[in-house]
Amino acid sequence: MSFFAYRNRVLHAEAIPLPEIARRFGTPCFVYSRAAIEANYRAFARALAGRSALICYSVKANSNLAVLGLLARLGAGFDIVSGGELARVRAAGGDPRKVVFSGVGKSEAEIEQALRARILCLNLESEEELGRVAAVAARLRMRAPVAFRVNPDIDARTHPYISTGLRSTKFGIPYGRAASLYRQAARLRELEVIGLGCHIGSQMLGPAPLAAAVRRIAALASTLAGSGIALRHIDIGGGVGIRYRKEKIAPIGDFVARCLRALGDRSEEVILDPGRAIVGNAGVLLTRVEYVKSAAAKKFLVVDAAMNDLLRPALYGAWHEVLPARKKAGKARVYDVVGPVCESADFLAQRRSLVAGTGDVLAILSAGAYGMVLSSNYNSRPRAAEVLVDRGRAHLVRERERIPQLFAAESVAPR
Ligand code: LLP
Repeated sequence: MSFFAYRNRVLHAEAIPLPEIARRFGTPCFVYSRAAIEANYRAFARALAGRSALICYSVKANSNLAVLGLLARLGAGFDIVSGGELARVRAAGGDPRKVVFSGVGKSEAEIEQALRARILCLNLESEEELGRVAAVAARLRMRAPVAFRVNPDIDARTHPYISTGLRSTKFGIPYGRAASLYRQAARLRELEVIGLGCHIGSQMLGPAPLAAAVRRIAALASTLAGSGIALRHIDIGGGVGIRYRKEKIAPIGDFVARCLRALGDRSEEVILDPGRAIVGNAGVLLTRVEYVKSAAAKKFLVVDAAMNDLLRPALYGAWHEVLPARKKAGKARVYDVVGPVCESADFLAQRRSLVAGTGDVLAILSAGAYGMVLSSNYNSRPRAAEVLVDRGRAHLVRERERIPQLFAAESVAPR
């Protein structure tokens, strides 16, 4: 079920007309649906019912405090990749004891912050990191709960920039080295070895690659158990895809069921870290047409959102559906939807048939994941506002940035 749908030719977020949100909060503006976020979370929870499991929402997909707060209240844990994300989780009322920390470049300060917060687990991604975490733990006189993120060398069959489970990527430790690194970690007093993890990529259309990865790490878990290293959890990562265009995506329940089957009779707690599948289709980006421009070869809708607001089309050639907030009669024409930024890659959509004119509001769909979080101030553009629709009301959950904020931390060089 979509929580963004037309009623009387007007696109709504739940029961609220999007043109009304654009008028009240301005554009560009991200709009999220609480009901959509919760329905997606519950689809994971339902599929995991009866199994000891923790859903660690991947904060990088959308880290607005309101979104994190909703998920925390549903009992979610969080998958983080920086000290900044840990601070956000805590500010939103998330429980640090349900936080897993992945990433290849954790600094000493971040490791210390995580240990002091008593997070659930640090997912180590190299032998060098193992040494650093042990040293920080020793200095703090603590034991660090750790897992290894193992690279299972499985092709997630997705865009190369978001494929992380092949041996050629920077992520995880090589599968073949895992058993010996586990033994090394188990000998260190400063470390408590509690888990095993993997994450092979994002926007997977079906469960087959994920299930293959899970089978490999389940086999590793049983090898480790055989050598006396008993684990408490297996973290199978995120990567469940969403529908942007006409892709056929397996339902969340199928992904989870196939992974659980691939775990066989292993009884460790299962951790999943979905991001996109929870928030991606729970958000849209509203933008207003500034100009209808006819150039030599093409027609353009120049809108007030740009690649600095939604980078995915420029970075991955990603396709996002564009819909008018209010359908109107008229002749559809083919346009590229572009922003004001000075780059030819600054497009949100290409070759779309639309009926649109100056002043009209457009909705860029599926913008809830990797939208606002990837935004920047390029061209000194203030970042967009964010609005959460929650039980019939629209709440501003992040103010539009103001221009003085852009350079408030800078100073003019002394002469
Ligand atoms: N766990 C780990 C360790 C990850 O690195 C990621 C995403 C996730 C979970 C969540 O993956 P998801 O369920 O959202 O697929 N900017 C790109 C996506 C980058 C994903 C990075 N890692 C995009 O816009 O498509």
